[in-house]
Amino acid sequence: MTLQLAGSQPSPASLEEAGLAQATLEPERLPSHQGARRFLIQPAVRRPVPLLFGLAGPSGSGKTYSALRLASGIARVARGEIVVIDTENQRAQHYADHFKFSHIDFAPPYGPMDYLAAIHTAERSKPACIIIDSLSHEHDGEGGTLDCVTAELDRLAGADTGLQQKLAAAAWRKPKAARRALLSGLLRLQSHVIVCIRANERTRMAREAVAIEPVDMGLTPIAAPEFLFELTASALLKAGAQGSPTWSSALPGEHAAIKLPRQFESVFKGSGPLEEGHGELLARWAAGEVLPAAEQSTRRSPPKRRRTKL
Ligand SMILES: Nc1ncnc2c1ncn2[C@@H]1O[C@H](COP(=O)(O)OP(=O)(O)O)[C@@H](O)[C@H]1O
Ligand SMILES: [Mg+2]
Repeated sequence: MTLQLAGSQPSPASLEEAGLAQATLEPERLPSHQGARRFLIQPAVRRPVPLLFGLAGPSGSGKTYSALRLASGIARVARGEIVVIDTENQRAQHYADHFKFSHIDFAPPYGPMDYLAAIHTAERSKPACIIIDSLSHEHDGEGGTLDCVTAELDRLAGADTGLQQKLAAAAWRKPKAARRALLSGLLRLQSHVIVCIRANERTRMAREAVAIEPVDMGLTPIAAPEFLFELTASALLKAGAQGSPTWSSALPGEHAAIKLPRQFESVFKGSGPLEEGHGELLARWAAGEVLPAAEQSTRRSPPKRRRTKL
């Protein structure tokens, strides 16, 4: 016999016949893959989306200045103000003569819920673009997630190092949940967002064929991978770059900091510093416009050799 699980409720008789007790198959307990949920299939369309643009680099590479230039371009299209959430000792205000923006001085602690509160404050004026400078404090700043994990470990295990080792995973549970709340808060924003992320040169010890050897990671972003994963696009600014991004690297840390989806290849095809025009194009794409395709020259296969008759 066939037992219909979706839509209509099976009769007690049919359940009995199938050898199933009714108590185990109440409709609300039906597993979703058996049809309790319904889905729509429709033609795909591109809808306006908010940008979440990342700028990663060491101190002095150009994160703040570039973020302000990009945001100024974005604001031309999205119409609204720029709000900077500044964890960097008010350093964004050094550029207040060059750019028009509102400023939130964000002092420690830097827990994910503190970030969320700052973001919600910034959101109130429905700005065109929010700059978070920087997101790195959420990870390793005073009262940031790493501090929260240490505090949780102390609470759970006290000074007992053996117990601390056992409870290491448990100590991450609350801070991870807070981080998830921040991430979903960020993803629900209507404004465009630029996040500045500090990056440091790093080396990782890895087990190679015969021994444990250092692996050069290059400039590695200081931010949780789940944030990097959600970025629409992300540029790496190397030391002394003065805002000119690097778009490719084989080093694992730098690779994680760079994200250039195909639709933006045309936006960033030239060299030179990030500027307002880039921000304008990003915002036009986000509003649903189709950007001109990237120059074919970078993709063109090498010219065929002309055959010479012997
Ligand atoms: N996109 C850019 N265009 C032109 N100059 C830039 C750009 N980005 C950075 N610079 C130059 O580099 C300096 C340092 O940049 P800044 O944004 O303050 O670095 P960071 O925030 O990474 O510490 C700026 O004062 C500016 O002179
Ligand atoms: Mg800065």
